[in-house]
Amino acid sequence: MRVVETCAEMMALCKEARRPLGLVPTMGALHDGHLSLTRQARADNATMAVSIFVNPTQFGPNEDFATYPRTMERDLELLEAQGTDLVFAPLPPEVYPEGFDTYIEPGEVAEGMEGAARPGHFRGVATVVAKLFTITRPDRAYFGQKDGQQVAVIRKMNADLNLGVDVVTMPTIRDPDGLAMSSRNAYLTEEERTAAPVVYRALCAAESLRRAGERDGGKLRTAALDVLHGEPLVSRVDYVSVVDAETMEWVGISPVERRLMIAAAVRLGSVRLIDNVVVG
Ligand code: PAF
Repeated sequence: MRVVETCAEMMALCKEARRPLGLVPTMGALHDGHLSLTRQARADNATMAVSIFVNPTQFGPNEDFATYPRTMERDLELLEAQGTDLVFAPLPPEVYPEGFDTYIEPGEVAEGMEGAARPGHFRGVATVVAKLFTITRPDRAYFGQKDGQQVAVIRKMNADLNLGVDVVTMPTIRDPDGLAMSSRNAYLTEEERTAAPVVYRALCAAESLRRAGERDGGKLRTAALDVLHGEPLVSRVDYVSVVDAETMEWVGISPVERRLMIAAAVRLGSVRLIDNVVVG
């Protein structure tokens, strides 16, 4: 396994790497959710590359960039055990050198939900993912469905800009009690961790209603909100949204065959959790 810190070296190694090349972009603090991506990437490709980069441009000024968990030594051990060929682990000035001034601005797909709650977030995500695609020129890239809107933004960018990458989405990996795995779960207190599966329970309530034939997105949303409001440790619901699973457009009344994503962002104390289910 080679660990590379510069764009130039990563570009050179990827150019001569055996194809197909699969890329798993991460911000490190790896958990089983990430490892499900690397396992798939390892199985599908002759070369498996993983990036570990806590991307400053996707964090707002009052967000957790400085405190985001960084566990490089352990991450490298895990990746070595997974048979990773290349790890790209640059520092911010390598990715954004002095004078860097070109960004990718995603359109409507990035406007609601996370885009509304975290202005500029998807501009940062799209820009860094475009850079990672350009540096590594992957045949395939792997993302988790847990960040469902992120996947939609990346798919749209990939199509609109003819980047030609096969974007592979892998299912959300959950703890046995339903909590979606996330590096930010490490911020939860013991009490908050016990309450946290309420987010998935709320989404499941809406999903069951849909499976029972409910066509009204508003009613699905209310079913999820009722569950969330029953948990005293939920300090704020940023959103519960019922959207088209590809375009992320809000869906009102729709036939049950339409593929929907029901998504939520919820605060337990100061910790913000996001999750979604896809139905249809
Ligand atoms: O999902 C993440 O970890 C990040 O948003 C990504 C895709 C690696 C871009 O920084």
